[in-house]
Amino acid sequence: MNNKPIDRRDFLKELGMASALFAATPWLSVFSESKQTNNEKCRLGIIGPGSRGRLHMSFLAQNPKAEMAAICDIYQPSIDEALKIAPKAKVYRDYRQLLDDKSIDAVLIVTPLNTHYQIFIDACEAGKQVFCEKTIGFTMDECLAMYNKHKEVNNIFFTGQQRLFDPRYIKTMEMVHQGVFGEIAAIQTFWNRNNDWRRPVPSPELERHINWRLYKEYSKGLMTELACHQLQIGTWALNKMPETVMGTGAITFWKDGREVYDNVHTIYTFDDGKQMTFSSVISNKFYGLEEQILGNKGTVEPEKGKYYFENVDPAPGFLQLINEWENSLFEKIPFAGTSWAPETANVNNGEYITGERPKVDGTSLLLDAFVEAVITHKQPARVVEEGYYAAILSLLGHEAIERGEILTFPDKYKLNYMNHKAITNTENV
Ligand SMILES: NC(=O)c1ccc[n+]([C@@H]2O[C@H](COP(=O)([O-])OP(=O)(O)OC[C@H]3O[C@@H](n4cnc5c(N)ncnc54)[C@H](O)[C@@H]3O)[C@@H](O)[C@H]2O)c1
Repeated sequence: MNNKPIDRRDFLKELGMASALFAATPWLSVFSESKQTNNEKCRLGIIGPGSRGRLHMSFLAQNPKAEMAAICDIYQPSIDEALKIAPKAKVYRDYRQLLDDKSIDAVLIVTPLNTHYQIFIDACEAGKQVFCEKTIGFTMDECLAMYNKHKEVNNIFFTGQQRLFDPRYIKTMEMVHQGVFGEIAAIQTFWNRNNDWRRPVPSPELERHINWRLYKEYSKGLMTELACHQLQIGTWALNKMPETVMGTGAITFWKDGREVYDNVHTIYTFDDGKQMTFSSVISNKFYGLEEQILGNKGTVEPEKGKYYFENVDPAPGFLQLINEWENSLFEKIPFAGTSWAPETANVNNGEYITGERPKVDGTSLLLDAFVEAVITHKQPARVVEEGYYAAILSLLGHEAIERGEILTFPDKYKLNYMNHKAITNTENV
């Protein structure tokens, strides 16, 4: 990924900072006081500066308000690489020692999924502000306990849901909520790739340490590593949580000793019957990755950064001719009818949401926002609830796959039962 940060001023100018926008994306308010904090710094400790952690460090290195004061890892090559980005950082090999360092204001937890919970709880108890990568917890109970701990100590808590700060997604949601695409009936999300998802291992005993994503002890595979981002888009678009989920998963191609599925399909259903799907196949990349939001007036694909209206100019003459010929042919076959003839032969290239094809996502702004929140000590509304619910949905989907049952969203994990169906209003959570 490109590690040039999005310019914050351009970003806010482009979005217009309208009050309606703030109502739908209240976490952006974090930037409104940034001028007053120009001379202040946030001293950060990075726990687990592996692949993702070092991407974060490359962004933080470009933020004058962020000082990468310490790093902690249990793997020397990660420490060596991280020191190339932050040569003055103090090095720890046990995260508890980093947490004891009173000069550190905030930590980034960028370790494998199974370790997040304990590091998070210890960090909160040590009085640190915390950015924790997604999926926040390994189980739904861990996620709830993390949320409650954050409420108890009243610290800053951000999660690694960068789409919340991505101009493509923010604009998309503004248009969806204004009704530009009509009534949204379904959201289809998928993340396909064609590779084994493995990293090279320098020696065999490091296999699980390096390829932790492939083993059940550390990760729940595609559901926790990928679905977490995409399910959040559906609930953001519809402003509510699904009621039930069903799914299936298998290892169908990469039979190489991994324990997590390489092929999953899940369906989440809302109280009014609307549906959201997440699927991931990692032996075919043709359709890539997308969240398709389907309304009766149009479709939006935020990842691609494009939208398409249902009504477009008539098809070019040649395609129109084929279409008409096929339809007339099918009309002569009584039992077939025309239902499976092409609906339309129109070519619809759509429009770009933000003027041009975007080159970066919202990660740099998410980190800027975290730094800003640490300095002002103001937790922006809903930012953590979005990460919490994304985690619960991923884990519930995983459980539905494992049990082979249709699962209902348990009341226990609804942060505020009354407000659960309208997650925009988490004021009283
Ligand atoms: N938001 C996103 O788009 C995104 C993208 C990639 C990864 N992630 C998340 O970031 C996290 C890390 O993923 P990654 O790809 O960087 O993994 P990684 O394996 O590249 O890095 C993890 C690092 O943590 C270190 N580590 C492991 N246990 C530790 C411990 N107890 N104390 C200190 N260090 C420890 C490892 O040695 C390694 O350097 C995961 O939670 C992952 O889901 C998020």
